[in-house]
Amino acid sequence: MTKDKSVPPTTTDAGIPVQSDEHSLTIGSDGPIVLNDHYLLEQMANFNRERIPERQPHAKGGGAFGYFEVTNDVSKYTKAKLFQPGAKVDTLVRFSTVAGERGSPDTWRDPRGFSVKMYTAEGNFDMVGNNTPVFFIRDPMKFQHFIRSQKRRADNDMRDHDMQWDFWTLSPESAHQVAYLMGDRGIPRTWREMNGYSSHTYSLVNDAGDKFWVKFHFHTDQGDGNAYLSQDEADKLAGTDGDYHRRDLFNAIRDGNHPSWTLSWQIMPYEDAKTYRINPFDLTKVWPHADYPLIEVGKLVLHRNPTDFHTEIEQAAFEPNNMVPGVGLSPDKMLLARGFSYADAHRARLGVNYKQIPVNAAKSPVHSYSKDGEGRTVNVSDPVYAPNSYGGPAAQPQKHEAGLWEADGEMVREAYKLRPDDDDWSQAHALVRDVMDDAARERLVSNVSGHLLDGVSEKVLKRAFDYWRNIDEKVGNRIEKAVRDELGGESDAEGLASAESIAHTRDAAE
Ligand code: HEM
Repeated sequence: MTKDKSVPPTTTDAGIPVQSDEHSLTIGSDGPIVLNDHYLLEQMANFNRERIPERQPHAKGGGAFGYFEVTNDVSKYTKAKLFQPGAKVDTLVRFSTVAGERGSPDTWRDPRGFSVKMYTAEGNFDMVGNNTPVFFIRDPMKFQHFIRSQKRRADNDMRDHDMQWDFWTLSPESAHQVAYLMGDRGIPRTWREMNGYSSHTYSLVNDAGDKFWVKFHFHTDQGDGNAYLSQDEADKLAGTDGDYHRRDLFNAIRDGNHPSWTLSWQIMPYEDAKTYRINPFDLTKVWPHADYPLIEVGKLVLHRNPTDFHTEIEQAAFEPNNMVPGVGLSPDKMLLARGFSYADAHRARLGVNYKQIPVNAAKSPVHSYSKDGEGRTVNVSDPVYAPNSYGGPAAQPQKHEAGLWEADGEMVREAYKLRPDDDDWSQAHALVRDVMDDAARERLVSNVSGHLLDGVSEKVLKRAFDYWRNIDEKVGNRIEKAVRDELGGESDAEGLASAESIAHTRDAAE
């Protein structure tokens, strides 16, 4: 082959020029290949190690880079530099589905992840949220069980609606999020057109030490956040374009159509949390906007696609514990548990030095005492311990820390104490009755009944009808009618026989 001067020469990973992109080294053109073809060996060995473990939940996703810019003066709530007037920081966002594997279709019904990493002057700030303002559960002990119920069975490694509804109907705190999931939010038309929420309550602290509770809302500037795909459209796309959402985002940015979101906060004065009628740290609840209105904070814009998906998106590691001074966690038990879980997942998936992978590295100076470990690339210098008298980094106690709250009492394993409006059904009811219109409720009934008709056993079906009646009696009755009509009024209709027998097999094995 003639030399083409316009392209660089192929080299090995060590930078040594290679002689052929096409032919292995052999003894004569028809002879055996030899073990000293180091380039062939390197190509095969590298290929065999290309895959890294996928994320446990949220394996399928896509993302892009851009910036976050403050557009309002919110300095009275936080001293965080990234939220001061005029601040603008580089940002990475990753969108995802929850339950599907890395190659699964983008249009399966699921909440969507909305992960944001801001590279600030005070280190990385991550907001790892969803496209819904609430979640299925409120105690982290149930998270692992919840995710297993949404993924695959032990026996046939298939997803199973019986398992999903079994868990949900035995966990009434899921009602609000399930109402979102089974409505239009469950299949957004594009990632660009959906909102993102912290869902959790976080804390803020200002320069004077005043503390506040806060919920983050990223509202899409592309429409009103309600653009959806019908179940039929989504099902077709799942078979024809599994990367539909990925493609939409990538092509939009490539074509100069840069999506943006407006960040607003709901702010709750610190003392209000003690007496508010809803537990403000219960992740299954929203704070009504009438009580705590939205306050504009800034604009998030995405304008650059990754050039290497693996290094920039697949190896991106978001973690809710990445808080900068002025922002902190809250007594939400789920959030506190997430503070451990993500960094642990990253160590397992990417190695202990995952924060040195460029996409995860802070753009502000890092002077930590971490040392060595697999995959370390950044040089460590002496002294390697603190305290020391050799000029090593020294911690700067902060005057005011966010995330502080008073706690005392016995060590217990108990649910949150109930407040007057802390029941599991009323906010789900308000969503179905007040937020959805007739057409949206019609789609909800059709989505739920279609889902229930797919292999849900009779005992779980009965609970599902009651679950929906608890949310809204009329909707519950309509769902039951739609399912029974389809089954010909038979409780033990043939369509359910296989799911029922699978469920029995499992019961017997337990
Ligand atoms: C991903 C754990 C609740 C949003 C993950 C991952 C784990 C995890 C282990 C995989 C991380 C990785 O390998 O990169 C948990 C636990 C939870 C919890 C233990 C509750 C106790 C939530 C909630 C939300 C959420 C409430 C949203 C409000 C996400 C998102 C991702 C994710 C968006 C994908 C991150 C990315 O884009 O890389 N979660 N999760 N999770 N989780 Fe959670």
